Amino acid sequence: MEFHVILLLIFIFFLCFCYSFRNKNGVPTNWPIVGMLLPLLANVPRIHDWITEVLEKYQLNFLFKGPWFTNMEMFVTLDPANVHYIMSKNFKNYPKGSKFNEMFDVFGDGIFNVDSKLWEYHRKMAHTFIGHPKFNQFLHEKVWEKVEKGLIPVLDHASKQGLVVDLQDLFSRFTFDTICTLIVGSDLRSLSVDWPNEPFLKALDDIEEVIFRRHVVPMSVWKFFRWLGVGKERKYKEAWEILDEFIYKRISEKRSEELFKQEELKHKEASVGVDLLTLYMDQAQGLSSTNVKNNLSDKLLRDTILNFFIAGRDTTSTALAWFFYLLSKNPRVESKIRQELDTIMDTNQDHDKLVYVHGALCEALRLYPPVAFEQKASMESDILPSGQHVYPNMQIIFNLYAMGRMKSIWADDCNEFKPERWISERGNIKHEPSYKFLTFNAGPRSCLGKNMAFTQMKAVVATIVRNYKFQAIQGQLVVPDISLMLRMKNGFKVKVCKFQ
Ligand code: HEM
Repeated sequence: MEFHVILLLIFIFFLCFCYSFRNKNGVPTNWPIVGMLLPLLANVPRIHDWITEVLEKYQLNFLFKGPWFTNMEMFVTLDPANVHYIMSKNFKNYPKGSKFNEMFDVFGDGIFNVDSKLWEYHRKMAHTFIGHPKFNQFLHEKVWEKVEKGLIPVLDHASKQGLVVDLQDLFSRFTFDTICTLIVGSDLRSLSVDWPNEPFLKALDDIEEVIFRRHVVPMSVWKFFRWLGVGKERKYKEAWEILDEFIYKRISEKRSEELFKQEELKHKEASVGVDLLTLYMDQAQGLSSTNVKNNLSDKLLRDTILNFFIAGRDTTSTALAWFFYLLSKNPRVESKIRQELDTIMDTNQDHDKLVYVHGALCEALRLYPPVAFEQKASMESDILPSGQHVYPNMQIIFNLYAMGRMKSIWADDCNEFKPERWISERGNIKHEPSYKFLTFNAGPRSCLGKNMAFTQMKAVVATIVRNYKFQAIQGQLVVPDISLMLRMKNGFKVKVCKFQ
């Protein structure tokens, strides 16, 4: 009897597989027992394009059904009215939810992974510190220092030696060094001509890849692998250890610095700006409430720092890599950027005048949003503006990549790279509502580092376009990877020449 059941199951799986490979028109069928899992698995290598096709067909909303025994039902929506409702209007009913917390367990109690009171606490602290004038001063100084002492020497070296450079790796090192300096106050100089190996960078990549994979298999399956300590889950555990070791080391260094250089540090702070970890520790020192003091334990600092690393490193570097990829395909845009740069005397001081550059960056962020997925879970039953009924603890997924490619949202030319889309007739930046341009999220949980990211991106774009020309290596396949961030699978390789 048992044998027959197994045979029957194999037969159903076989049918579904044949169907999902044959069915290239993007309409997943809801199969008995396995639901839509097999078409999903078959399309994982091109998940974003597949979702784009499905959601275009289903007019922005789609209910995904997983296998009946796994509780894997998800409502996928790109509808701006739903986004606005969930992210802002009825924000309280849509936390990230317990499933999110489990999938992102390495984030601990950091800002990305918590809801309600603890999130409010993190948000308030992060908002105060990122907006702190001393931190802003520090940001500008350190970004330009990295451009001059890191980016330019490496690109000069590559152009002299005729080397091929992977731009994704280059920008990843640039933002890692910058974010490391901004967050913990030390520059690890991963961006240098000898291209050192940095295990922390690799560990971050591994973590992001495995978290993504946890989204496309039933929770019980990846939890079982985690329990066994095998496969990708083993890689995840090892990466977690590397991250912990790195961050706890920085915290303990900073604690000794705090103890022994209290006076000197205050003086330094007053004159030259300060990193986020110091601001957090300083705040804890000044707080009388023992509760908050205890909250700022090493563990909470570790979670806070790790969340900032993930928020700030890969997002900005991924955006830059796709930006230069799009530029290589659109020489017209590159020469318009050069024309704009010719009118600007001091790029460091005149960021706000870079209107065309800003439009081009927004356009790249629309087509290739670094955070390609977002998710929420409902607390209570509700009805969304699209008419979808939502039950408690239902998973709601937003695919930002697909959202930037919907004709009904961005017009028929939505697949073209047109910075002009972002510029008004009067020559100013055109504002697009965040529930339409969701790249930096919308509502109370919108990105706190948007300005920080634009400061870095504009410094890099202006320096590179002014001084260098990239020649893309022919025949390379530039496609999105399967990861939490929309990284490129094989990077983007170019030859570097000086621009005369
Ligand atoms: C191009 C660069 C960036 C993009 C596209 C981006 C995008 C996003 C998105 C989509 C979210 C919402 C994530 C979620 O809730 O699941 C977010 C949140 C956040 N971002 Fe960014 N981000 C960028 C750069 C940065 C930088 C440089 C920082 C600074 C360290 C930063 C700090 C944060 C923080 C702290 C949050 C959490 C907000 C909250 O939950 O209240 N981001 N960002």
